[in-house]
Amino acid sequence: MAKPRTSFICQNCGAVASRWQGKCEACNEWNTLVEEAPSAGIGALAARGARKGRVFALEGLTGESKPAPRLLSGMAELDRVTGGGFVPGSVLLIGGEPGIGKSTLLIQACAALARRGERVVYISGEEAAAQVRLRAERLGLCDAPVELAAETSVEDIIATLSAGRRPALVVIDSIQTMWTETAEATPGTVTQVRCAAQALIRYAKLSGACVILVGHVTKDGQIAGPRVVEHMVDAVASFEGDGAHHFRILRNVKNRFGPTDEIGVFEMTGAGLSEVANPSALFLAGRDGSAPGAAVFAGMEGTRPVLVEIQALVAPSALGTPRRAVVGWDPNRLSMLVAVLETHGRVRLGQHDIYLNVAGGVKISEPAADLAAAAALVSSLTGAVLPHDTVFFGEVGLSGAIRPAPHANPRLKEAAKLGFARAAAPPGPQEGEAGGKIAGIAQRPVRHIGEVIADIAALGRGGVAPRARAAS
Ligand code: TYD
Ligand code: MG
Repeated sequence: MAKPRTSFICQNCGAVASRWQGKCEACNEWNTLVEEAPSAGIGALAARGARKGRVFALEGLTGESKPAPRLLSGMAELDRVTGGGFVPGSVLLIGGEPGIGKSTLLIQACAALARRGERVVYISGEEAAAQVRLRAERLGLCDAPVELAAETSVEDIIATLSAGRRPALVVIDSIQTMWTETAEATPGTVTQVRCAAQALIRYAKLSGACVILVGHVTKDGQIAGPRVVEHMVDAVASFEGDGAHHFRILRNVKNRFGPTDEIGVFEMTGAGLSEVANPSALFLAGRDGSAPGAAVFAGMEGTRPVLVEIQALVAPSALGTPRRAVVGWDPNRLSMLVAVLETHGRVRLGQHDIYLNVAGGVKISEPAADLAAAAALVSSLTGAVLPHDTVFFGEVGLSGAIRPAPHANPRLKEAAKLGFARAAAPPGPQEGEAGGKIAGIAQRPVRHIGEVIADIAALGRGGVAPRARAAS
């Protein structure tokens, strides 16, 4: 059988098929297979005959290596996400939906660095140089000596960058618009994206410049093109937010040089993105504490505590199968929590529609949010308004037991800073039995979901403060 000359590559997941199909067998997406010529990458090199290998010196772990100083942009929220500044010679991929503000963020970062005397190059493959300049003008960044070009050929870009003084930072907006002569596929295809990224990564490693690649995101939130690019780069961050809200979150997904759970919070204003130093205040702004079904969760995002409101609406269902809709939280966790509430708390939710929303468009992935979500659900079901000055955190186990959450102290401190006086949370390993005060916050230690349900039931009957009760 003859070897196939071309292959069909899924533009969604990067899987390779030998013939065209309507549906990708790997990711089950329809109409994503595109015919691509074999790339002149590693395969072609091997076909030309193996070159004799060069012998290189091996080194020990305790060699001499001076870490290059990091490049601080001066934008505290951005520097927090990069783990203390951009690393010279590294590649950072920033993904995000169109219009979320990636280009705005990066032109602001470029201007900030250029004003500090670094050579900064911004290559736009999507907008004309005049368009980028117009935006910079509107943002008041025109005085910053950022070097600008609208180019899409990777070979030309690398030749240009190598000609002058080594740039400290190069922004490529976006990787999907770049094309390289080493691949025969059309621009935007998986092969092109991969080869272009490969060339730019090689440039970063050889030159010591920090390269930022902008990546588009598909409808299900993945960076378009192969996941391979995510594995190739040193760090991946995603820029999130939704059209209805002004603030944007830059979230670290992968970082070879620092922690991965940090977030940077920005607010989109008429004058570009401004940093939000105190996100809790922003997320809790406009909170209506007089309605049932709202609980404040004292969460952690990386090293920073962040307070958000979890809202629940529980209503009798007219449908055979009640509706469960979740925004900003994991639907599977909601199902689990509902089952625990039914089994261990005797809370009947089976015939109710449940809507759960994390206010402000924030996404929570921490298990410690269970307790706040449970409190919001029970509050909405019973109509009891939760105390305005109480925060909740703790992971609910399948047995109904509430497990301690890490970083209790920073959570409590943040809550105290924002005027909260009480916290319902599992007792930490070092804390006593009695509900003492930590960081000025009165503790209501809870060990079982039944205690929280009893507390809320007591509230509904007479509006009294939560008090200690035995688990049901
Ligand atoms: P942009 O950076 O072009 O998004 P991306 O590169 O991720 O596609 O941002 C475009 C959006 O940001 C646009 O809808 C308008 C809004 N915006 C502002 O609200 N204020 C501003 O100062 C700027 C520059 C943009
Ligand atoms: Mg853009």
